Amino acid sequence: MRLWKNTAGLFCAGLSLVALAATTQGALAESGRKAFERECSDCHMAFPAQLMPKRSWHLITSTLDNHFGEDASLDPDVTKKIQAYLEANAADTGGRTRGALRGIKDNETPVRITEMPWWVGIHKYEVRPSAFKDPRVRSKSNCMACHRGAKRGNYDDD
Ligand code: HEC
Ligand code: HEC
Repeated sequence: MRLWKNTAGLFCAGLSLVALAATTQGALAESGRKAFERECSDCHMAFPAQLMPKRSWHLITSTLDNHFGEDASLDPDVTKKIQAYLEANAADTGGRTRGALRGIKDNETPVRITEMPWWVGIHKYEVRPSAFKDPRVRSKSNCMACHRGAKRGNYDDD
């Protein structure tokens, strides 16, 4: 009887540890998303995590002190949270956005969405090259100039 009680106790303790771990993970993911949206939208929109593979986000968040000619470095704890959020939601975590990885070799690590074959493929036919130089656009990276819904992940706006 006593033995049975102890085992049940252990079992319950085990279960609640699992539950605790799951809640902590959820809270971490949520705070990572918030940190990403806050810290990565100062100079451009916060690009959707789903558009690049894990290794790209890893590289980008590991080199923020030299980020496309800017110093975008953050507190190491914040960087870690953002890195975890981006990696957990990257194109190669499954879901509908694996297509974004088309044409990229395993040993290639793109650091720009705008250099990935799927992006280039769509925009080559849909956009005149001069349109990216328009003063209202200025850069291919300025998604929102052409896609009003881009911040919400909606690029289907015409
Ligand atoms: C201090 C300004 C600044 C901050 C803060 C910043 N970036 Fe950038 N980022 C840039 C610049 C400048 C470029 C290059 C834009 C261009 O070519 O027009 C860029 C480009 C990018 C690109 C490539 C866009 C493309 O062309 O496909 C990604 C991805 C990116 N940033 C991710 C991030 C992430 C993630 C964060 C937050 C951790 C972040 N950025 C914070 C300045 C910043
Ligand atoms: C100069 C304007 C311009 C810029 C800048 C631009 N796009 Fe586009 N994009 C277009 C046009 C035009 C299309 C084709 C019509 C459409 O689907 O909206 C398109 C299509 C797309 C599509 C396919 C939409 C669909 O429903 O099939 C995606 C996804 C997309 N763009 C993402 C991006 C992202 C991400 C950025 C920034 C890194 C970006 N675009 C920057 C003009 C632009």
